[in-house]
Parts: sequence; structure tokens; C-alpha cells
Amino acid sequence: MDIIVDVLIVGTGAAGLYSALNLSDNLNILLITKDSVDKCNTSLAQGGISVARDEKDYDLFVQDTLKAGKYKNSVEAVKTLVYESIDNINEVIDYGTTFDKENGGLRYTKEGAHSINRIVHNKDETGKELFESLLEALKNKKNVRIFENTTLIDIIINNNVCCGGVVTKGEERINIYSKETILATGGIGGLFKNSTSRRSLTGDGIAIALRHNIKTSDLDYVQFHPTALYDDKVNCEKFLISESLRGEGAKLVNENGKRFVDELLPRDIVARAVYDEEEKSSKPYVYLDISFKGKDYITNRFPGIYKKCLESGIDITKQKIPVTPVQHYHMGGIAVDLSSRTSMDHLFACGEVSCTGVHGANRLASNSLLEALVFSRRASKCINESIGEIASLSLKDIKGMETFENYSVINKTIVIDEFKKMREAIRNELVNY
Ligand code: SIN
Repeated sequence: MDIIVDVLIVGTGAAGLYSALNLSDNLNILLITKDSVDKCNTSLAQGGISVARDEKDYDLFVQDTLKAGKYKNSVEAVKTLVYESIDNINEVIDYGTTFDKENGGLRYTKEGAHSINRIVHNKDETGKELFESLLEALKNKKNVRIFENTTLIDIIINNNVCCGGVVTKGEERINIYSKETILATGGIGGLFKNSTSRRSLTGDGIAIALRHNIKTSDLDYVQFHPTALYDDKVNCEKFLISESLRGEGAKLVNENGKRFVDELLPRDIVARAVYDEEEKSSKPYVYLDISFKGKDYITNRFPGIYKKCLESGIDITKQKIPVTPVQHYHMGGIAVDLSSRTSMDHLFACGEVSCTGVHGANRLASNSLLEALVFSRRASKCINESIGEIASLSLKDIKGMETFENYSVINKTIVIDEFKKMREAIRNELVNY
């Protein structure tokens, strides 16, 4: 079956949904997602979204992002992120996203390596709130369709121009021809034994890019979050204990109840300190303690984490939480410019699959949703201004058709092979396929 659309968007996390919302209403848009629409990492995000407090905060926010990123960031991309942050937060509020308030204004929390409180949040379920409000806003758009359980197998290429994607939907294979294609396929956490990510996120976008020599960047920059709930029963999606607990005062302590690190240092430093502490002790975890903040405060500010830990037998209003580092985020990805354009014409990448360069070697806390918003809106603006005629193609132009059935396996293999060339730490964590 063949479908022709103006814009194909692969992925329904923040980057996918928000780019669809920002595209012109006269474009015919199709979003596809591998799983059900809500099974994205956005809906799991807890902490919040960074935003400059005001123009006076721009320089400090830029500096915090560069410092956390070990100055490996693109300064231009960081400035873009920061300067456009307030505008994008206002836009999602207009779309219906609500954030916690205090004294008549937004309530800002803190996380590691931020010099000041500048993270807007909805209790500890900011991603769910953002995802649901953007999806709801999208339902009013007559020009947008969403196909669930639809997997991108490969992109369609003609003369090094992207002209859509080949997908499978159940048993059916569909060629979706598009004038513009946006990859918003998320990260690589599903390739790791222990990750906060959904299992379905297996670096598919990166695999496709590698296969077609589309430029990638910083693939070895993989972030481990210091505090996932320790759970030895399964090697899979781990429950995140948000950094915002530490931002609100929670302490990391070892088995003897002693603090061993400044909890609000950059994420990579805290994760390493936790690993070191685990090495020294007899336990594969340390503890995070917020119990001293009192039940009312904890259940109101962190209801999701309170409930989830209680299901695991831990009452965080009374007990310390066993935590350990797990894979959390991929700073590297498909190299893009400030309009999210890849090195292939008519192919864009936004969100975690992309590498804008904003994060450098280590992402500053709560900059991921902000990056997804800022740079997916930029992609849409670029498309709105420049959408051209669809290339005329026949089926014989589609590359590699005969092997499509195997491509979901090949995608994983390609990405794993790429990472195997990289760091020992990553190799040890990769799932054995
Ligand atoms: C968290 O809530 O700790 C995660 C936020 C992030 O990934 O930046």
C-alpha cells in the first residue's frame, strides 16, 4: 500500500507532537509510532523543563549548560536553546500544559548543576502533563493523523533526497511518501540492560542514519542517571527517582548513613560517586533519603514517586530509597543544524535522536524536553517556509526493499556494533543480542 502526505513524523514524544502542532494547518501530516501513542519517554519524564527565569538569567543558564556539558557543547545551539526557552514554555502553556504555581507565578525547582531554581514542573509528572496536553491540542487538528503500532523500517531515498519512509503496521507494509520527513524516534535506552527508557526505544533513527551515511555526532556520549530505584528482579526499564528530590533537599547516603557527595553536582559526577560508593560497600546500591521532609510535603510534591515506591514496599516518608545509576539519555545522535536539518535533504531530526550539540558531553538536568520543544518548533518553521513539491518516485527507487522484513533486527545490530567500538562502560551495559 502507498500513502502520500506532506510531512511524515516518526515518533509521538514531545518532539513529534510539538513539531506537528507547529506545522501549517494546510499541510497533510501523518505521525507514526512503534507502540501505542503514549509509550514514549516524554510521558515518563518527572523532573521538569528548564527555562530562563528572565533575560537576566540568559548568561548564567548558558554557562550552566556549557559547564555541565564539559564545554563540548555547540555554543550557538546552547544560546538558541536558552534564548527561546521562555517563548516555548509560554507556547506549551497556551496549548494547555499546566505547571505548579506559587505566589501567583510559576514555581521553579532546582536540579543538579543549575545555579538557580529554573525548572518548571507539574509535581513529579511533568512529562505526562506535557504529553497529554500536546496530544489533546493535536486532536483539534483536522490535518493530522496518527498511526499507532507502526514501525519505521527504512527511509525512502531518491538521489540522496529523503522522500518518506517504509513502515510495517502489523502484517502490512506501507510506503509513505512525504515531502518532508521528521525523525523523532527517541533514544537508545532499550538497548541497555538497565535504563530509565522504554524498551521500544532502540536507536532506530540512528541505525537508519548510519546505514545511509547520514551524519551523526557524539555517539559515545551516553548519560547515566545517578538515581534509579534499585530493583534486582529485572534487567529492563527502571523507575527513575527524579533529580528534583535532590533539588528539594534529599540526601544521598551510603550503607552507614554517611553522605559521600554533593548531591547537586553535574549528573555524571554524582553517578560516578555512587558507582565508587557501591564498589566500596557490600551493596549494589546507595540510599536517597527525603523522609525528613514530612509526609504532607512528600505526598503532595512527589505523588508519583511516593506511590510507585510504596508498590515496591518502600514508604519514602519513613524509609530511605535504594538507588543506583542506570542509562538515561543519549547526548549524541543524528547531527542537525539549528533548524534540525540533517545532512540529507528533506530529512529532519528532533528530540533525543538528534544531536544539536546543546548537551555537549553531559546533559544539564531538565534540558531534554526543552531541547525537544525549541528545536522541533524550529524544524516546523523551516518546513512551513520551504515545503516543496514531492519528488515523483516509483517503487523501484526504494532502496533495499527485498530485505525490509529483517530491518528491525538489523537496526539494533547496527547501533550495537557502533557502540561496541566505543567505551568499555557502554559495552558492559549493552543487552546481548
Ligand atoms: C529527573 O527528573 O531526574 C530527570 C530529568 C532529566 O532527565 O533531565
